[in-house]
Amino acid sequence: MKSFQLRPLLLIVFQVVTLKCGHSYSSQLNNTTNRMRCLDRERQALLNFKDELVDTYGRLSSWGNDEHKRECCEWIGVYCHNHTNHVTQLDLRFKFLRGKISTSLLELQQLEHIDLSFNDFEYAPIPDFIASLTQLQNLNLRSANFSGPIPHQIGNLSKLLYLDISANDCNSENLDWLFSLDSLEYLDLSYTDLSKATNWLQAVSKLKSIQELSLSNGALPEISLSFLPKINGSSPLTFLDLSFNSHLSNSHLSNFWTLVSWFSNFSSTGLSYIILNDNNIAGPIPDVFEDMMSLTVLSLYRNGLQGGIPKYFTNLSSLVTLSLSENNLSGDINEVMMNLSGGLLEKRLLSLDMSWNNFRGLLPNMSRFYSLTNLGLESNQLSGSIREGYLQLPSLAFLDLSSNGFTGAIPDLSFSPLLRSLRLSNNTFSGTLTHSIPTLSQLVELDLSFNSFLEVDFDPTFDPPFQLRTLKLAQCKLVKHYPVWLKTQKELQTIDLSSIGISDTVSSFFGGTIPTFLYLDASNNQMYGSFPNFSFSSTDFLTSPDVALSGISLDVSRNKISGSLDFLCYVKEWALLDLSDNLFSGQIPDCFASFRSLRYLNLANNHLWGKIPSSFGSLSALTLLHLRNNSLSDGIPSTMRNCRGLKMIDVGGNRLTGNIPSWIGESFPELIVLVLRSNEFYGDIPSNICRLANLQILDISANKNISTEHSSYSRELFLPTNTLMMPAGSFDSLESAYFMWKGNEVKYTSRVGLVKLIDFSDNSLVGEIPMNITKLAGLVALNISNNNLVGPIPQHIGELKSMNFLDLSRNHLSGGIPASLCNLNGLGVLNLSYNNLSGRIPRDNQCLTFEGAAYIGNVGLCGPPLNESCPGDHPNPRVEGAESDDDDKFITPGFYIALALGFIIGFWGIYGTILLNKTFRYAVFSKLTKAWIYFQN
Ligand SMILES: *[C@@H]1O[C@H](CO)[C@@H](O)[C@H](O)[C@H]1NC(C)=O
Ligand SMILES: *[C@@H]1O[C@H](CO)[C@@H](O)[C@H](O)[C@H]1NC(C)=O
Ligand SMILES: *[C@@H]1O[C@H](CO)[C@@H](O)[C@H](O)[C@H]1NC(C)=O
Ligand SMILES: *[C@@H]1O[C@H](CO)[C@@H](O)[C@H](O)[C@H]1NC(C)=O
Ligand SMILES: *[C@@H]1O[C@H](CO)[C@@H](O)[C@H](O)[C@H]1NC(C)=O
Ligand SMILES: *[C@@H]1O[C@H](CO)[C@@H](O)[C@H](O)[C@H]1NC(C)=O
Repeated sequence: MKSFQLRPLLLIVFQVVTLKCGHSYSSQLNNTTNRMRCLDRERQALLNFKDELVDTYGRLSSWGNDEHKRECCEWIGVYCHNHTNHVTQLDLRFKFLRGKISTSLLELQQLEHIDLSFNDFEYAPIPDFIASLTQLQNLNLRSANFSGPIPHQIGNLSKLLYLDISANDCNSENLDWLFSLDSLEYLDLSYTDLSKATNWLQAVSKLKSIQELSLSNGALPEISLSFLPKINGSSPLTFLDLSFNSHLSNSHLSNFWTLVSWFSNFSSTGLSYIILNDNNIAGPIPDVFEDMMSLTVLSLYRNGLQGGIPKYFTNLSSLVTLSLSENNLSGDINEVMMNLSGGLLEKRLLSLDMSWNNFRGLLPNMSRFYSLTNLGLESNQLSGSIREGYLQLPSLAFLDLSSNGFTGAIPDLSFSPLLRSLRLSNNTFSGTLTHSIPTLSQLVELDLSFNSFLEVDFDPTFDPPFQLRTLKLAQCKLVKHYPVWLKTQKELQTIDLSSIGISDTVSSFFGGTIPTFLYLDASNNQMYGSFPNFSFSSTDFLTSPDVALSGISLDVSRNKISGSLDFLCYVKEWALLDLSDNLFSGQIPDCFASFRSLRYLNLANNHLWGKIPSSFGSLSALTLLHLRNNSLSDGIPSTMRNCRGLKMIDVGGNRLTGNIPSWIGESFPELIVLVLRSNEFYGDIPSNICRLANLQILDISANKNISTEHSSYSRELFLPTNTLMMPAGSFDSLESAYFMWKGNEVKYTSRVGLVKLIDFSDNSLVGEIPMNITKLAGLVALNISNNNLVGPIPQHIGELKSMNFLDLSRNHLSGGIPASLCNLNGLGVLNLSYNNLSGRIPRDNQCLTFEGAAYIGNVGLCGPPLNESCPGDHPNPRVEGAESDDDDKFITPGFYIALALGFIIGFWGIYGTILLNKTFRYAVFSKLTKAWIYFQN
């Protein structure tokens, strides 16, 4: 603030002085001129260079032609030679610049150093004139949104020491241009498409001075061993990164390891860093590293390595960092650690990451690795309790034992006073927190979640010596109340206190000093009362880059919080708001216009009434909207047509009325789920809903007065464009969809990717079922029960191969049951009851798996499983079986089979889980297994 106001003030003073004392000014000017180092020509060149750039954030505001700005040697990012005053360095890293690189740069012939990394040159090619700056020693163009071929002229820059072109969208057909870069010490071409550069190794072998080489993610073509260049200790290479080049290892794994040996021989000093992540390398860890006595860092994560860790590792006397996470390594952890013990390694190792493998057994005594600062054992199958003294690691800063089967007490960590990050989640630790955690003064991250027997109980007067940034206690046992000591934590950003049994008022939770969180999950507790006026303690916090980037997430769903939603209006930066399943009441405040970052809004299952505010139309980032089960009235505001990113709209179970807006079909090109169920909409279904090419779930059921009398429902609505695209991976874990099944709300969680569902039940639809419905090949569920439909079931309904759930009951359908219906092997739920169907129920297997209830109420139907025998048949007893011991009527055997067949194979197995209403959730989990067995028998 101060400098901003001072500057014009100084100018005025300056002018006054000028007017009054001309002489002294001119001498001062003389003096100034003497000190002016910037050369006019170069200043002009730099200004021309700036003119071609878009400097959105004013990072180059010091660059100018005004009197007080003329000294270009003092401009941000510009450095001049101390004696010649030529500009020698241009360092514009991370200035958020866009635009073009001007040829005026060529005026700056003494440039030795150019850094344009982390800007956005909008897919422009790398300008080849840059190669005319012959004094260049450093050229950094990393992650600057360049594209196209790397100009081979760069090879003329014979003084080049440092070249980084990584993380652009560039390619190079060959690397011959490297041949003359004799001085080059550092080369990073990561993320450059080198798939055509078959001679890349020849070119690299010419780099006599190379010390660090990164060619990761370059789609490097495989090397033929017969063409390995003959070299011996010809370069001082110490750093090699060949990550994410799976072509190198795909066909001939041994060639890959030979290549690694080649690099080791190429180096005169011995390799210190070998990074080979993400290379799809299968098989055991080979012995190529055995003689690499200079190796300090070896990173092999995300490969398919198998077996244990070879014994020779213990002799790798320089090794300090070993990363083997995300492989298929296995074996008893005790034997593995034995192989790392006994040599120099044991004393030197600083970082050991073996997470995401299949190591098993009891944790061995790790204290012999007494230099360790990082230890990662997450997601293995380690078990048992951790013996006292086995983690006496005085330098430990990071410990991750999450997702194993550890039991017993939390290990005593008081020997590790430097511990910053402690992750013990998803084990079966029990007891109370020992006194060691309260002594860890450096702690910034504490994750004890999913340890449901662990009691997290601190003395109310506990005054922690640490300032956490991350605290996760989800599903721990909170013995008494809201942890009062949280109020001492001024830097908390990520807080997960879900399902820990907090039963205090919301205001005692948020009252006093409110932590400056970015992410707070306090869902599934018993908090009650209403929100205090929400305000953050620090406004600096709101302008911090973290907030700007990610926004603020608040999840207090599944509590008993009441009162109004007005508290929302005090923060603009909401990104995720889940207030569902509470007792919030009143109208939704009309203050959403400023919530530019809001992506997810869930107000379902509360007592909200009144209109959907028209300020919802400003939610340009919104993708998921749940307003299910409130008492909202009036229509969907027309402003909402601006929310073009919406993928899910669920306003089911309200009192919304009016026509279904016809603009829905045009305004939401990405819509996947549309639920308007159980409202008071009336009129026609707008036919342009069929333009929603990504739509997968369309539920307009139970609106009573929706008809098809004037609509084109029977023609256009089911055109094949509808619902059939499957946007892979577009749904993340927040996304879930609900539909009604026999009066209960069924919830699909995780990914609804495979489910394509149409529910038009309980309306006033008339006419015939359109024949073209059979074109909806991906349809998984169709419910058009309880309407006034007439005519036959489409003959070719058997073409709907994915059909899992078909309910046509309670209409006036006539004719026979098409035999093709019985070919639908995945059909788990069928209901044709209460129509005018006639004839014999086809005897094919699939049609017989359903009980009589699927067919009753059709006076003309005969044959099993109905008791009604067809003319000429012997009376046939009702097919028994499938009787279950279910105590809740909801989960019928038919539903089991639906789950077992349709969802285990197609949905559960691949895409995650189907969860029912909370009350049914566990029932289904446990019964599903039974269903599966039942089905297989
Ligand atoms: C300005 O500098 C020049 C030499 O560069 C000198 O001859 C002249 O006397 C100076 N003028 C004043 C007013 O100081
Ligand atoms: C010239 O500038 C120098 C350095 O800023 C200063 O010390 C000196 O007093 C100035 N001389 C005159 C004559 O203004
Ligand atoms: C140039 O001057 C700066 C600041 O006085 C100094 O830090 C730097 O070392 C000098 N460079 C050379 C090459 O003399
Ligand atoms: C790169 O430039 C293109 C074209 O202007 C733009 O669409 C894209 O968003 C830019 N990418 C990045 C990462 O800045
Ligand atoms: C917990 O660990 C098990 C394996 O031990 C894993 O399958 C599961 O995904 C983990 N859960 C979480 C929430 O990390
Ligand atoms: C059914 O689809 C075909 C194209 O597949 C189209 O020509 C025909 O008009 C459609 N029929 C109806 C009744 O929409």
